[in-house]
Amino acid sequence: MTFRGTLLFAGGVLASLGLGWIAFPHAIYTSRQQPVEFSHKIHTGSAGMQCEDCHALREDGSYVGIPPLEQCAGCHTEPTGQTAAEKNFIEKYVTPNREPPWLVNARQPENVWFSHTPHVRLAKLTCARCHGDQGTLDKPRVYQEDRISGYSRDIWGKPVANVKGPTQTGMKMDDCIECHRAAGLEHSCLDCHK
Ligand code: HEC
Ligand code: HEC
Ligand code: HEC
Ligand code: HEC
Ligand code: HEC
Repeated sequence: MTFRGTLLFAGGVLASLGLGWIAFPHAIYTSRQQPVEFSHKIHTGSAGMQCEDCHALREDGSYVGIPPLEQCAGCHTEPTGQTAAEKNFIEKYVTPNREPPWLVNARQPENVWFSHTPHVRLAKLTCARCHGDQGTLDKPRVYQEDRISGYSRDIWGKPVANVKGPTQTGMKMDDCIECHRAAGLEHSCLDCHK
């Protein structure tokens, strides 16, 4: 091959690698929007609410998770502002009394056992330690679903090039184990698997 040919060949290889790098995540994940354009920033900012007002631990230690529509309706039966996001929320969900089909980025596979109680009550971890900045966002994150497993991108598979992105803070088995090891916790698969 001539020098020129080698250069062209190398250029071609680099270009297709680059393209694959960009296209690969699109090929393995589908993106879905949350049903409502909910803003954590507004609710914990100007609306003055705390995380626990919506995401509380029940007396029995189980987690409320994403609050039921009933709780939102207390403030949103009538519009409190003038935004399209609120109007849409009221028309599609509050008035017909239909629960928004929220998507949970952190949702674990059926065979994983997780409880917030030891982490939040006993270990006193902050929400952000595992969930990153989701509690302060102005718009919900786009939910990315792995086409093969059907799980959220946060919990399944290695990040591309093994580099953790800003949204991948601590929902994978490796993340759980890393922190448990550092805390000197005993390890059996059955600690976390049913
Ligand atoms: C007015 C009720 C309300 C308040 C207050 C609130 N949240 Fe939320 N939270 C929601 C709703 C609704 C969703 C689902 C939409 C979304 O993902 O943004 C959600 C989703 C989340 C999620 C995403 C779970 C996942 O894996 O997809 C996290 C994490 C979260 N909230 C943390 C927080 C933190 C931390 C605070 C306090 C700083 C907070 N929230 C305050 C209503 C609330
Ligand atoms: C304590 C009262 C209160 C509760 C409870 C509450 N909100 Fe709100 N919400 C507000 C206020 C105040 C605003 C700001 C209205 C404005 O000025 O546009 C707002 C704004 C919104 C908006 C418009 C956001 C935007 O970007 O303009 C949506 C959508 C919304 N809320 C959904 C929800 C959902 C879903 C829940 C239940 C998980 C909920 N709210 C619970 C008070 C509340
Ligand atoms: C040790 C890591 C960790 C900490 C700390 C943590 N979470 Fe979570 N959270 C998780 C995991 C894992 C899940 C998924 C649970 C499942 O699917 O069984 C989850 C799920 C959630 C969900 C979705 C629940 C649902 O299924 O509807 C919300 C909302 C949430 N967490 C809010 C919070 C808030 C608010 C705090 C702080 C008070 C917090 N989390 C602290 C790991 C954590
Ligand atoms: C940032 C650190 C941290 C992360 C991340 C974390 N954990 Fe933990 N976890 C702890 C600590 C500390 C305890 C012990 C709390 C105590 O009992 O004082 C604990 C306790 C537990 C327990 C209870 C064990 C028992 O015997 O009571 C389970 C189950 C568990 N974690 C599962 C998980 C799973 C599943 C994940 C990942 C989705 C996870 N943890 C992520 C720190 C963490
Ligand atoms: C500290 C908690 C923890 C321990 C201990 C743990 N796992 Fe996991 N495991 C998880 C979490 C969380 C997931 C889901 C997220 C993921 O796939 O990374 C998972 C996922 C898996 C999966 C994939 C399940 C699926 O449906 O895709 C397998 C298989 C597995 N673990 C096997 C094991 C074995 C075998 C052990 C013991 C050597 C073990 N795990 C110990 C937390 C744990």
